[in-house]
Amino acid sequence: MQIVGIQIQGVRALANVSLAPGAGVNVLIGPNGSGKTSFLEAVHILSLGRSFRTRRTRAVIRHGAESLRVVGEVSREEGKDVCTIGIEKSERATRLRVDGQEVRSVSALARQLPVMVVAPEGLKALLEGSEHRRRLLDWTLFHVEPSYLDVLQRYGYALRQRNASLRNLARGANEWEVEAWDEQTADLGERLDEMRRRHMNSDAMAETAHEAIDSVLKEEVSWEYWCGWDRERTLKEVLNENRRRDVETGYTTAGAHRADVVWRASRGMARDKLSRGQGRLLVMAFEVAQVSYVKKVEALRPVLLVDDLSTELDIVSMQRFLSRIESLGLQVFISSVLDAVVTLVRPNADSRLFHVEQGRVLQAQ
Ligand SMILES: Nc1ncnc2c1ncn2[C@@H]1O[C@H](COP(=O)(O)OP(=O)(O)OP(=O)(O)O)[C@@H](O)[C@H]1O
Ligand SMILES: [Mg+2]
Repeated sequence: MQIVGIQIQGVRALANVSLAPGAGVNVLIGPNGSGKTSFLEAVHILSLGRSFRTRRTRAVIRHGAESLRVVGEVSREEGKDVCTIGIEKSERATRLRVDGQEVRSVSALARQLPVMVVAPEGLKALLEGSEHRRRLLDWTLFHVEPSYLDVLQRYGYALRQRNASLRNLARGANEWEVEAWDEQTADLGERLDEMRRRHMNSDAMAETAHEAIDSVLKEEVSWEYWCGWDRERTLKEVLNENRRRDVETGYTTAGAHRADVVWRASRGMARDKLSRGQGRLLVMAFEVAQVSYVKKVEALRPVLLVDDLSTELDIVSMQRFLSRIESLGLQVFISSVLDAVVTLVRPNADSRLFHVEQGRVLQAQ
């Protein structure tokens, strides 16, 4: 997929921006506070209905405006087969359109325009809780398994109901209510794991992840998918055995909602052994690997949003990362405060340079 035109209104620093990006690498250069991340957030909103920096809509809508609006012309194939998608968001409502037709679910936009963000905040995936890593799993599975989103949402519902019934049980309610939700949570959780395992443990994933990690991070790192409970037993058995403990804690302590990816360096956990720059490169490599994977197995062509490329990285690391993403031949938006980044990109007919200044995005001549 490729954005051939985009119009942005009222997204943070951007009052009114309209541009025609190139099909390859688009570099956005500008000083701090000029609006580079705002632009990438706008593209992210167009795909996923929300920013990658915050869940609060108010923070993203430009001060003084009631709503934000992003409209994109998206092409499936080298500028052909163009579809127009749009989103308008106020604090109270969200309206989505695909080719003039109103749609209800944001997933309709994400299917037209798959977007992966590679931002300095990604380091949280290495240093903080498993939800950041799970989000990466979910991103990939959403694009490769048509039923994944539905099962994930139903699992989330069953889990919330189980947690509520655990709290009811603590207040003296009957055990059968938890038993009923155990059944559903276990069934849906096993289905999520089955899909996740099939992809995360596949040869194609091992290949793409190793390729990406080897080419951008010159360190030995291995990784492993973990389902979220003791795999020796079924989830049904685990939920049953954990019931007393779960009543005490008030929530479900094991299950598919605890799934994780564990990264190991040569002498311990990657989180403890890698420097910050190496850690950022590991997460970046893994994010790019997910993109390569969906490209390989589904022939999808996600758009990559790379925010603040130079944060934590030296010139050689930036060069390695750029050659990796250039080799994928996808549409990429890269922001940086450093003019020098431009010299690292191989110019061609599909690359563009934009200067971002005080909320305006201008193509360089
Ligand atoms: N809701 C908003 N309305 C208007 N302006 C906003 C809003 N939220 C943030 N801003 C401003 O938008 C400007 C641009 O922010 P943005 O994060 O896009 O900058 P940037 O170019 O990515 O900068 P940096 O290089 O520091 O990352 C900032 O000055 C910020 O204060
Ligand atoms: Mg920024």
